[in-house]
Amino acid sequence: MTQAVTSLPAMPRHVAVIMDGNGRWAEKRGIPKLAGHNAGMLAMKEIIKRADIIGVKYLTVYAFSTENWKRSKEEVGGIFNLLVKYVASELAELHENQVKVRILGDYTEIPDAAVKSIEKALDTTKDNQGLQFNIALNYGGRREILQAVKEISSQVAAGTLKVDTITEETISRYLYTGEENDNLPDPDLIIRTSGEERLSNFLLWQSAYSELAFTDSLWPDFTPEEFEHIVRAFAGRKRRFGGR
Ligand code: IPE
Ligand code: IPE
Ligand code: MG
Repeated sequence: MTQAVTSLPAMPRHVAVIMDGNGRWAEKRGIPKLAGHNAGMLAMKEIIKRADIIGVKYLTVYAFSTENWKRSKEEVGGIFNLLVKYVASELAELHENQVKVRILGDYTEIPDAAVKSIEKALDTTKDNQGLQFNIALNYGGRREILQAVKEISSQVAAGTLKVDTITEETISRYLYTGEENDNLPDPDLIIRTSGEERLSNFLLWQSAYSELAFTDSLWPDFTPEEFEHIVRAFAGRKRRFGGR
């Protein structure tokens, strides 16, 4: 009988990543920002593979925030074109590897071509049981909570929900990570690249007890090795959840 396995520290079940630094990466090289976003897509492909290999069950990436619309039309359009290109070239392999894709955010507001390719990815991978890969797209944590409050309020107004019965679980159920996406577990670990140490409106409710890890690496430079290193370091952290 081998008992060593039980002494291995637990891997985080859900890792979320704020993929930041594409613009600075491009700027450093004197090339267009979109080339940075393209390099960022390539980095993401490698991180998905490594997450799967090391046994992370849920991987969530922050790809586009509700605030990112403030950027130029060219940049925003370019990011969504890259997404379409990514899905076209990667969907077959993701599906082959049993990856299930979900979108967190109001993706219906993005350009039609991107909506179409997303819906294809969701549909193709809907029954897959492997890595659960969530893309936060047109995602905003405050907006997510706001729309949950609105839905809960209308249930109360319609008499189908009693105020006294509203719990934290009720709120969780109405978030993008809730019932519409099979009630995903909260992230155990959130990693942000590029040296910025803030959440930028990412998973505000769900991150209440997440461990946070920051690295100066710009997203296109972020390697699977560094990802694995951070994830394994997490396994050694003690989470107390307010207890002793
Ligand atoms: C992150 O890279 C990708 C998106 C927000 C879409 P940035 O484009 O924010 O890169 P920096 O922060 O300008 O370096
Ligand atoms: C956060 O990065 C959003 C994504 C990575 C998609 P930003 O670059 O938009 O965040 P701020 O503006 O530095 O807070
Ligand atoms: Mg940024």
